[in-house]
Amino acid sequence: MAFQQRVFSGVQPTGNLHLGNYLGAITRFVELQANYDCLYCVVDLHAITVWQDPVELKRSIREVTAAFIAAGIDPKRHIVFNQSQVAEHAELAWVFNCVARLGWLNRMTQFKEKAGKDRENASVGLYAYPSLMAADILLYRATHVPVGEDQKQHLELTRDIAQKFNNDFAPSIAEAGFAEGFFPLTEPLIGGPAARVMSLRDGTKKMSKSDPSDLSRINLADDADTIASKVRKAKTDPEPLPSEAEGLAGRPEAENLVGIYAALSGTTKPAVLAEFGGGQFSTFKAALIDLAVAKLGPIGAEMKRLVADPVEIDAILRDGADRARVIATETMGHVKDIVGFVR
Ligand code: TYM
Repeated sequence: MAFQQRVFSGVQPTGNLHLGNYLGAITRFVELQANYDCLYCVVDLHAITVWQDPVELKRSIREVTAAFIAAGIDPKRHIVFNQSQVAEHAELAWVFNCVARLGWLNRMTQFKEKAGKDRENASVGLYAYPSLMAADILLYRATHVPVGEDQKQHLELTRDIAQKFNNDFAPSIAEAGFAEGFFPLTEPLIGGPAARVMSLRDGTKKMSKSDPSDLSRINLADDADTIASKVRKAKTDPEPLPSEAEGLAGRPEAENLVGIYAALSGTTKPAVLAEFGGGQFSTFKAALIDLAVAKLGPIGAEMKRLVADPVEIDAILRDGADRARVIATETMGHVKDIVGFVR
C-alpha cells in the first residue's frame, strides 16, 4: 500500500461526553497510539451545525481536549487539535460538496434523525456535515478511522467521495505523480464489546448526549456517587444473567451492561458471563460499579484539573493545530493542482 498508515478521528464538543464516547472511541484512540501516527480532533465546525451557546462551546472544546489527555492520549507524540484552527478542513469540505451527490447525502440516517420532522428548518451545514467529515479524514489522507458503530455510514460515504475524486480527476492525479489515486479508501475501525453502548434506561436506544434523561448515560465528568446511583437504577430484566453469550439474545439491557463490563475490564462478553452467569443482577451491578468508578474516577478528576487551567489546554490545541496545518496545507496544495486551480 502506497499510503502512509495514519489514524484520524474526531469528537464533537457538544457537552456531556459519556461512556459511549469513551468506550466506543476514546479508549481505542489511546490503544492505536502504539502502532500509528494519530490525529485526534475536537470537531467544533461540526458542533455548530446545530446552534451552540458560544460560552458553552468554548468550555466544551476544552473539556473534550481534557478528556483525550486524561484518558492517555499523548499530545506530544501525536496531534491533538480543534478543527476550526485549521482552515483547510472547511476548504476541502467545499471541494467535496462538489464531488458528493445529493442522492448520497439524502441517504444519511443521522441527518434524518437529527433534523427530525422539521427538515425545512435544519441548517444547510447539518445536511452537508458528512462531506466535512470526509474532509477531516482525507485532509490527512488517513488510512484508519476508529469510531463507534453509529458513524459507519459516514465512513462509507468518505470512501465513496475518495473514490469519485480519484476517478473524476484520474488524469491530473496521475500527472501529479500519484500512481494509486490521490486519496486512500479509509478503513473504519469499529468493533469490540462497546461499539454501540446503549442507554441505561432503554437497551434498544443508543447512549447519547441528547437524551433528555441524565440517568440514561454515565458522563465522564460524573463523580463516584452519581456513577453508582445510575448503575443501580439501570434497567434490567427479572432473569439471572445467562452463562453463555447466546443467552443474551432478546435481552438488550443485560447485553448492554455485560458489554460495558467487558469493555471496561478489557475482556469479552463470554469471559464476563463465565464469571457472573447464573448470578443476580444485584451482584453483577455491584461489581460493575466498582469497576466503573475505578476506571472513570481518575479520568474525571484529571479532566477537572485540566479544564481548570485553560492556558495549558489552549497551548496544546495551538501546538497541535500548527502541526496538523503542515500536513493539511500540503494536501490542499495537491488538491488545488489536481482540480485545476491556479496558485
Ligand atoms: P460524536 O461526537 O457523536 O461521537 C464521538 C465518538 O463516540 C462514538 N459514540 C459511541 N460509541 C459507542 N456507543 C455509543 N453510544 C456512542 N455514542 C457515540 C461515535 O461513534 C464517535 O466515534 N461525526 C462524528 C465526529 C467526527 C468524526 C470525524 C469522526 C467528525 N469528523 C472524522 C471520525 C472521523 C460524531 O458526531 O461523533
